[in-house]
Amino acid sequence: MAQLWGGRFTKETDKLVFDFNASVSFDKRLFEQDIEGSIAHVTMLAKQGILTCEEKDAIIRGLTQIRQDVAQGRLLITDEYEDIHSFVEANLIERVGDAGKKLHTGRSRNDQVALDMKLYVRKETVQIADCVYELLETLLELMKNNLTTYMPGFTHLQKAQPTTLSHHMGAYFEMFKRDMLRLGDLYHRMNYCPLGAGAFAGTTYRLDRSYTASLMGFEGPTLNSMDSVSDRDYVIELLSALSTIMMHLSRFSEEIIIWNSNEYRFIDIDDGFSTGSSIMPQKKNPDIAELVRGKTGRVYGALMSMLTTMKGLPLAYNKDMQEDKEVTFDAIETVKSCLVLFRGMLATMKFHSKTMEESAMKGFTNATDAADYLVNKGVPFRDAHAVIGRLVLYCLEKDSAIDDLSLEELQAVSPVFEEDVYDAISLKTCVEKRLTTGAPGREAMEEAIRLNQDFLAHAWNREYKTNETM
Ligand code: ARG
Repeated sequence: MAQLWGGRFTKETDKLVFDFNASVSFDKRLFEQDIEGSIAHVTMLAKQGILTCEEKDAIIRGLTQIRQDVAQGRLLITDEYEDIHSFVEANLIERVGDAGKKLHTGRSRNDQVALDMKLYVRKETVQIADCVYELLETLLELMKNNLTTYMPGFTHLQKAQPTTLSHHMGAYFEMFKRDMLRLGDLYHRMNYCPLGAGAFAGTTYRLDRSYTASLMGFEGPTLNSMDSVSDRDYVIELLSALSTIMMHLSRFSEEIIIWNSNEYRFIDIDDGFSTGSSIMPQKKNPDIAELVRGKTGRVYGALMSMLTTMKGLPLAYNKDMQEDKEVTFDAIETVKSCLVLFRGMLATMKFHSKTMEESAMKGFTNATDAADYLVNKGVPFRDAHAVIGRLVLYCLEKDSAIDDLSLEELQAVSPVFEEDVYDAISLKTCVEKRLTTGAPGREAMEEAIRLNQDFLAHAWNREYKTNETM
């Protein structure tokens, strides 16, 4: 049991207590960030004359070696240490002796862990934004390639009006675009450095916190040392953004599962992205979509867990906050793998455009357009709505579509109908005449595609990647 404290204790820590308290088994994930933060800290201490240059060099040399040894598997991060900070410091002292004992000057594990977690979350935020970006690229391709792939649009899961696959994919594009922007927002909000806050009340050493912050690519230092060590808002913001991503992925997964069902047959999931049944030979199941939908609960759980952990904590640091790590790490890994797999599934999926178009022709998706046709001939909308309603009833009895009725049959319901009605309510016309901004008509879609193409060319994560120090 290797600890950084013990001077005021007269007894060994009970083994059960040590294990319960320890966090190294999971905070070893913060190893890189811990080393980076320590290098920045001693660089600043030397600049301020708090450490000599020789001491600083010895410490940095030791830290760099530890980093290499761990990376190459020569040094293992084992459970005998309380946490990752103890592991690094103990190994440093072993390697460089007395200089190593000065690493923790003007620092507490409270500001140290606040920094490590922030560096980690910041790096992962960029990586997740990258995964979202790649999904957006796939969606934009589908939007470009399916401007005239007609399909029914639904409300209440009932066929409502015709649309295109391009338009449907465009809806998800907007959702994931907002998700990416949310990640950008929280990145900016969290990008202030807590190091130098000490245990919670700063320190009497003349630290240059702005300098430390600039060494690690932060906008500046945090402005209240109590808040610095007890703030986990940025973790909650990330988990909230991740929950929203999962909610969107889950809705999309649900549609894919429906489209893949025997009744719909709108799509074929690639063999590489589906699984079979151990008993039913005919089965090809949408397991990836189902798993993504299922894992949503786990990510929401992480958000709820963190909100609850932080609720009621008095200022400043409390050990409860050690509970931020496992759920956050798990949520991050879950979302990254879901994004990558979902994108692969989407990119390789086959869309059965003929089946989709036939489905759009059935179910009276042109009923609104038939009413609009009458309105254009001078019938008030409410009356037109009633006429088409009666027509639908008639068609249901005959088991046919509005387009299949003869002109005589149409005129029997309303004399306003003329030969041009067939063109006015054809699937193609129904879609192509919808040209308001955001609608599925070709020109409106092309404009949305152009704007979103532009968005991707200037997206924040490409720009911030170069600033990311890890
Ligand atoms: N393992 C701790 C955590 O994750 C590090 C901070 C410990 N600070 C303390 N005062 N015990 O929060």
